Amino acid sequence: MSTATVLAQQPLHDLDEWDDFLEGRYKEGKTEEEFRVYDATATPGVAEFYRQNHENMTVDYVLAKEKEYFSLSKGQKTIWEAAEFLNTLVDDSDPDTDLTQIEHLLQTSEAMRRDGQPRWMILTGFIHDLGKCLCLYGEPQWGVVGDTFPVGCAWSKDIVFPEYFAKNPDRNVPEYQTKYGIYSPNCGIENVHMSFGHDGYIAEVMKPYLRDESLYMLRFHSFYPWHKHGAYDHLCNDKDRSMLEWVLKFNQYDLYSKGHTKPNMAELKPYYDDLFAEFLPPTLAW
Ligand SMILES: [Fe+2]
Ligand SMILES: [Fe+2]
Repeated sequence: MSTATVLAQQPLHDLDEWDDFLEGRYKEGKTEEEFRVYDATATPGVAEFYRQNHENMTVDYVLAKEKEYFSLSKGQKTIWEAAEFLNTLVDDSDPDTDLTQIEHLLQTSEAMRRDGQPRWMILTGFIHDLGKCLCLYGEPQWGVVGDTFPVGCAWSKDIVFPEYFAKNPDRNVPEYQTKYGIYSPNCGIENVHMSFGHDGYIAEVMKPYLRDESLYMLRFHSFYPWHKHGAYDHLCNDKDRSMLEWVLKFNQYDLYSKGHTKPNMAELKPYYDDLFAEFLPPTLAW
């Protein structure tokens, strides 16, 4: 396969490349203007990834994926089994990160624990990216990670690389191109079809068990146009606005808790066994 073909099929070296891009984009102290200076030539893989995402993320695609995955028919797994499963997504392209997916999750949750955050939030930190296992079910990178946004209404200019929506077929559906599209004013973002990815999937898995604050963190953690840029307020209701502070609190840890120290798994396991047992049944439907 030529390099161009590989780039077209899997434009990111691994899913973490998107997380690293976000971290750079939202580096503390960066102004709104600097944020806009991301350049496709500096990060060709990321740009290609967003091109695929923005061109393919249609209402029809989202509805089909929701039907396929939100029925949770991929079997029963414990949290540790789900984390081990995600761990099989190995990253062999980056010689200087030798952290596994579980270790990345633990870094997020352990940073919350050090700050004395509530136990339900520490749990949320640990599980928030377990939905990336969608990749292992064969979903393309562009359908698993990336900033999320509502489909079925006009795209905000605050979505990164908005120019790539030019070739999205929904552009030709007049109903989807108005401010409210298929929604009504202030309908609440829980009632909106978000672009499909790991966020929505993990929120569905956890919906029966966790509180709203936690479910908002899960479902909307990649909805940067909303939580970082204030877009789509016209679809928000009072509940969304009151949950926003928790999503923002969560985002600090998601973006900035990556480090190179390996968490000590054996030492931490009993704490997490208790934490999972406090909020969740032994196995969950995925
Ligand atoms: Fe995530
Ligand atoms: Fe994350």
